[in-house]
Amino acid sequence: MTILDGKALSLKIKNEIKEEVAKLKKEKNIVPGLAVILVGNDPASHTYVKMKAKACKEVGIYSITHEMPESISQDEIIETILMMNKNPNIDGILVQLPLPNHIDTTKILEVIDPKKDVDGFHPYNFGRLNQGLDSFVPCTPLGVMELLKEYKIDVKGKDACVVGASNIVGKPMAALLLNEFATVDICHIFTKDLKAHTKNADILVVGVGKPNLITEDMVKDGAIVIDIGINKLENGKIVGDVDFENVSKKASFITPVPGGVGPMTIAMLLKNTLKAAKNR
Ligand code: GUN
Repeated sequence: MTILDGKALSLKIKNEIKEEVAKLKKEKNIVPGLAVILVGNDPASHTYVKMKAKACKEVGIYSITHEMPESISQDEIIETILMMNKNPNIDGILVQLPLPNHIDTTKILEVIDPKKDVDGFHPYNFGRLNQGLDSFVPCTPLGVMELLKEYKIDVKGKDACVVGASNIVGKPMAALLLNEFATVDICHIFTKDLKAHTKNADILVVGVGKPNLITEDMVKDGAIVIDIGINKLENGKIVGDVDFENVSKKASFITPVPGGVGPMTIAMLLKNTLKAAKNR
């Protein structure tokens, strides 16, 4: 069994990005800029946004966070996004999700200029991804593909099972695997017999947010297991969606939580922001 070390790979990628950012500044006098919009007081969102800002700073990307109160109106958020769309020093715009219930998330995401959509959540980019065209790809699934590539895992012809069908993780993950010619099964809350699907998978990707959802009996011998879940237990411990201790005995490759997919997500945000800045 090999651990897919996302922490180590993310450090390697961040170093490469740092060099490219310096080169862009030297040759074209461009400093990539990221605008983050953070609404409300969700502690996890605040933590993630701080981690993103810190990572930007480490590689020389300029970042600004627009913090807004829970009570903000949809129109005020839209106005801020329109301003960032026009701002020539901002290459990437990221609206941290989830948004409060009175805000229409789809409307907000559709206002972002697709060329600055470094999260890849705009339907334009999602459509292009599904057609196998160049696009901004959501950071978490993109990070998973980079991890597979780093460990020379070829997905072509493999049976892949994606558990979780969200717009930001499961669906783009399935699209990326399909684009690389895996045979993809997508499971979700209404799936009748989850185990029947997971047990068949050569590559099992899980992003649901339920500790211990995937147990040893649900995994094929020698499977490649990717755990996207980040769950905080009552005792403060961070775990994924997979029973790591027991599943790791059966898997050929597995991501740990923490230190697997999480750090890759942030590295991919930096990569997407650099890509947007190069298109300036
Ligand atoms: N909320 C949970 N994950 C993400 C993410 O990758 N990007 C944004 N913007 N919000 C999130």
